[in-house]
Amino acid sequence: MLPTIDWQGDAIVMVDQRKLPGQELYVRCRTAQEVARAIRTMIIRGAPAIGVAAAMGIALGMRRNTAKGTRQYAVDFQKICDMMAATRPTAVNLFWAIDRMKRVFAEAAQAGASTEEIADRLEREARMIHDEDVAACRAMGGFGASLVPDGARVLTHCNAGALATAGYGSALGVIRAAVEQGKQIAVIADETRPFLQGARLTAWELVRDGINTTVITESMAGPLMRAGDIDMVVVGADRIAANGDTANKIGTYTVAVLAHEHKVPFYVAAPLSTIDLATPDGDRIPIEERDQREVSHLGSARLTPVGALIRNPAFDVTPHRYISGIITERGIFKPPYQESLKRALEAVTVEQ
Ligand code: MRU
Repeated sequence: MLPTIDWQGDAIVMVDQRKLPGQELYVRCRTAQEVARAIRTMIIRGAPAIGVAAAMGIALGMRRNTAKGTRQYAVDFQKICDMMAATRPTAVNLFWAIDRMKRVFAEAAQAGASTEEIADRLEREARMIHDEDVAACRAMGGFGASLVPDGARVLTHCNAGALATAGYGSALGVIRAAVEQGKQIAVIADETRPFLQGARLTAWELVRDGINTTVITESMAGPLMRAGDIDMVVVGADRIAANGDTANKIGTYTVAVLAHEHKVPFYVAAPLSTIDLATPDGDRIPIEERDQREVSHLGSARLTPVGALIRNPAFDVTPHRYISGIITERGIFKPPYQESLKRALEAVTVEQ
């Protein structure tokens, strides 16, 4: 399986996703600051993967912290959590993972644990978040594969694969599981301007796995659907509001509207950690606006004339009415999402 992120000795190691597919380079982060920078600069990206990275970064930072006594240790812990929370605003998995780390810290501190014991517990929790994410992706794949007909041509947008999670992938996990069941699947990967996650990362992952992959620019999706060349759409998510409205990579909304127009089923695959019941609808999801240079330049080459204004919202919101179902590790949820998502998360809380 692809090595997205791993804790090795005194470092968090991650494949540099800015360099793929040209170079497979690994970055070793030895401090929490380096992990935060890796998230901000998209060395690692994808909602579940940045949650895992933040958790590991927090645990690493506290392992290296030399504050004597839990008081200063607690102050430093809060600072590291704040630093991680400021890296990227849209993917709720980041905040979910930070909250989990905060709960572990509070329980350990309240129990009078030493700073060393607290660091141990934080590391255990971070590793658990990683492993749970892989398991969630596998389970999602199992449920989602049942929706994929043999011979299907499946369109996906951005990269919701092994690289965007701790492994296996959410949307690409569904495709992988369908392929593992022996189905013939052809994937259509939107290139995903401006960071090109589809062209660079999704295509790289799938080709490595020997899965039939065709890259298109997003503007080609409409005519392909009209020609009947796409049977279903599966995408990942960065945050799913309580009513099912879903934030995902910019361009997803356009695909969803097109799919609706052409009666192509449109599915979202995401772990429960992506569902945010505290956000009532998509209008309240914070949308990250990234550096204009991602649009005005391709590598070092300038594409736009100096003086042209640039917008670069990194995500959009797909209204829940366009979503045929939400595939999670607990099953496939259908409209009305307000009820089905609430029930799904309540069931998890009861089990805990
Ligand atoms: O800006 P990115 O590359 O972090 O955006 C990633 C996406 O939008 C993914 O589709 C989403 O995080 C789902 S990942 C399983």
